[in-house]
Amino acid sequence: MKISVIGLGKLGLCAAACIASKGHSVVGVDNSEPVVSALKKRLCPIRENGLEDLLERSFERMTFTMDAHEAVLSTDVTLIIVPTPSGPGGAFVNDRVTAVLKAVAPALARKKDFHVVDVVSTVMPGSSQREFIPLLEEAAHKKRGVDFGFVYNPEFIALGSVIRDFLNPDLVLIGASDEKSGSAVRGLYESFVDSAPEFAVMTLVNAEITKLALNCYVTMKITYANELARLCEALEGADVDVVTGALGADTRVGKRCLKGGLGFAGPCFPRDNAAFQKFAADAGVELFLSPQVVRSNDSIVDYLFSMVAGRVGKEATIALLGFAYKPGTHITERSQSLALMNRFLEAGYRIAAHDPMAEVEIPHQYKDSVTVYDTPEETVTAAEAVLLLTPWPEYGAIDWESLWKELPRPIHFFDCWRVAKNAARAGDKVHYWALG
Ligand SMILES: NC(=O)c1ccc[n+]([C@@H]2O[C@H](COP(=O)([O-])OP(=O)(O)OC[C@H]3O[C@@H](n4cnc5c(N)ncnc54)[C@H](O)[C@@H]3O)[C@@H](O)[C@H]2O)c1
Repeated sequence: MKISVIGLGKLGLCAAACIASKGHSVVGVDNSEPVVSALKKRLCPIRENGLEDLLERSFERMTFTMDAHEAVLSTDVTLIIVPTPSGPGGAFVNDRVTAVLKAVAPALARKKDFHVVDVVSTVMPGSSQREFIPLLEEAAHKKRGVDFGFVYNPEFIALGSVIRDFLNPDLVLIGASDEKSGSAVRGLYESFVDSAPEFAVMTLVNAEITKLALNCYVTMKITYANELARLCEALEGADVDVVTGALGADTRVGKRCLKGGLGFAGPCFPRDNAAFQKFAADAGVELFLSPQVVRSNDSIVDYLFSMVAGRVGKEATIALLGFAYKPGTHITERSQSLALMNRFLEAGYRIAAHDPMAEVEIPHQYKDSVTVYDTPEETVTAAEAVLLLTPWPEYGAIDWESLWKELPRPIHFFDCWRVAKNAARAGDKVHYWALG
């Protein structure tokens, strides 16, 4: 099958490379000249685990262009994976998607063969039926379901494991305007996935709602574990990992996303909750859960700040270990670590920081007030209080007990994910505290 992918960013380029790696010819389109020219030179413009290698193996089946029109003419299915930023009130803004649809429509008008337009970008429920299909039908003078097909097919991937997640989905969600388009996209996925996913083929609006509902459900589950952690912490002898381990063994609950810790963050989960709430408000429906999930998540930053501020004075240096929003990525968007960094700086503390991948991602305004160290050991040694915020495996592997012997002064150590295994054996020098 010949596939065009419009939008070669964090998700789009990985998707294009994955599809090409399984033998399809892929035309990649982006409106950024530097992105397209880098790819034409066989250079990878995105940092994502495994992407360079995958591209290396797939480049021979890939071409790159800025011309969406030509790409549609020469392919059977077009995936649109451009940004849908959050607008005021939390709704996703569709203008980049509609710009692409306007560029695609003249090509659809010229095509004799049935072509499937597949929007992968996350959009507000109702967008396909209300906005995208009428735009295409009017601009291309063609009828959906007869001359072209329209599909909404969002992905459930996490940064840092985009390739693995894209090739091994649990669920392939396909909202389709008609049976033929739904089957075409299902066939495409069947041709490249390594897992045996559940295919959920449904109407467009149901798929739009499902995408948001699933992500918001996951944040609710994460939040439940976080609140349990807070509760366990209040009771002598309680251990949240023991409790969630047992809860997760019940298949009604499941083990994934049930680790009490610092909460959810990143470019998707927080904004998906905001969009879900906006969708409900616009529909005149009062949601109780989603706003509380966000409130609970935000409260973790306040809780940790008070915990530290209650133990060390403002003359202290605070070491933050990890500011990527999760391990395996350099992305810091909406990271709880950055929210904490902000709180400490505003309160007048000095910050020492370390992250194995996100070292260049400290926001510009903090650059002068934060000292970034090359190693976690140097970072810890420079501080009076240490917060282990991103559960990078590197931090778990440190021989904390030996490090404690080198410490120039006593410290408070806050282990938010309970990964610093031997850090508790600290004698008088280290006041170890594990969240949960
Ligand atoms: N990255 C993720 O983890 C993730 C996960 C699930 C869903 N999504 C959704 O996928 C969409 C894309 O996200 P992303 O993270 O890949 O974005 P991104 O910002 O990393 O990349 C978007 C790419 O689209 C290109 N682009 C923008 N407008 C264009 C246009 N008119 N024509 C051609 N190219 C254009 C940009 O130059 C950029 O290369 C969003 O709706 C996002 O919500 C992303």
